[in-house]
Amino acid sequence: MTAVSDGIIGSTEGLNPEQEAQVRSYIDLLDHDTREVPEVYRWTNPLQGVALTVPVERYTSRAFHDLEVEKVWKKVWQAACRVEDILEPGQFVKYDVADISVLVVRQRDGSIKAHRNVCLHRGRTLKEDDGRADSFQCPFHGITWDLDGSLKHMPCEWDFRHADGDWTLKQVQVDTWGGFVFINLDPEAPPLADFLGDLPRHFERWPLEKRYKQVHVGKVLRCNWKLAQEAFMESWHVVATHAQLLPGIGDAISKYDAWGNFSRTLTPNGVPSPHLNWQPTEQEMVDALTDRNLDEDPRMLVPDGLTARVAVANNRRAHLAKDLGTEVAEGLSDAEMLDSMPYTLFPSLHPWGSYNRTCYRFRPYGNDPGMSIMECMILSPYEGDTPPPGAQLRMVETDTSWTTVPELGLLARVFDQDDANLPFVQKGLASGALDEVVFAEYQETKIRHFHMVLEEWLA
Ligand code: FES
Ligand SMILES: [Fe+2]
Repeated sequence: MTAVSDGIIGSTEGLNPEQEAQVRSYIDLLDHDTREVPEVYRWTNPLQGVALTVPVERYTSRAFHDLEVEKVWKKVWQAACRVEDILEPGQFVKYDVADISVLVVRQRDGSIKAHRNVCLHRGRTLKEDDGRADSFQCPFHGITWDLDGSLKHMPCEWDFRHADGDWTLKQVQVDTWGGFVFINLDPEAPPLADFLGDLPRHFERWPLEKRYKQVHVGKVLRCNWKLAQEAFMESWHVVATHAQLLPGIGDAISKYDAWGNFSRTLTPNGVPSPHLNWQPTEQEMVDALTDRNLDEDPRMLVPDGLTARVAVANNRRAHLAKDLGTEVAEGLSDAEMLDSMPYTLFPSLHPWGSYNRTCYRFRPYGNDPGMSIMECMILSPYEGDTPPPGAQLRMVETDTSWTTVPELGLLARVFDQDDANLPFVQKGLASGALDEVVFAEYQETKIRHFHMVLEEWLA
């Protein structure tokens, strides 16, 4: 990170004047914050000119999907579960992506191991669900493995004298960060810390390991997994997809940055969209904003003389004081209280920064390039040293509203609006009318960065 110039830490080199003006509008809000804003908000690293267009076949072709499985899913660090999903010895989570299935297992000594969910005899999967076990017995012929994957019992061992290899289940690399258990199928893969790069530094102030998974919901969507997550990687679709939010969201004054294997958006809230051709009152800004956020009183009134931004920030500080204490809460900037800060770690984990509790994960669903799984986790703070058990994944039926999950609160309506586009984007891409899709240079920074990293993995 280079020196601060005009409130920016880093450089805006490569941006055209309109793009730079967008960054400066956001920095100007930080400069007018009622508190000192943490430096991480000012770190600036725009993406240079790559992946401005990508071939449509990335979203539609089975051959491309197969390549992704071989070159990405079998090689990359990926978040398989949360540590609080497997607090007890013998507890395990089954993590599936495409045809790959992995068991992530808490060991008796408290460590975590992972192995392929495949019997070494004739290849049956060992478990079809999450659960807790003393050992893993294959339902077919009963060969049994210990929690660490070592062979425990083999009926008719005398009949396998020819198979004198190692009968330990295929091991998978495991490491943790931020309360997530990451796995990697590639025994040669460099450590997780190398893969994360600077990301932990971005979350130092809001440690995700001090959260637990209070809510976990998922849905199978009728679109490619990349297409699904790309709907959550830019703020400029708000203008058409979530128009009800415009009075309270600075969609087109968002700041987008990318580093290494991750990227992020910073979208200010409590200010009107530059797209509006009328000036909302401060109360109208709050009404629009509280239509979409958890933990808000929807009828919050703006006190005389306060801006929407300050009023909502005050309100949220008061809420947070219950968790953090008044002194800490009082020191938090308006930006931390208000602004949307979704990060994306390649290939598909999307934890939000600051005190927002939202985290998304996306995956292919089986081997159909036109289907995917979207998940939303609500990661909440907890008291004491041990997190409460993580919530089990609850699947919402395809084509069913997210509003059937009351725990998602006001996020559900926004998700419904996002999801409504996706099957139709997939349909349009599959129609063969286009050879490539075109990305916005700045506002689709995160998507371009994703494709840039994807290209490196596929190369
Ligand atoms: S397939 Fe698993 S024991 Fe035979
Ligand atoms: Fe959206």
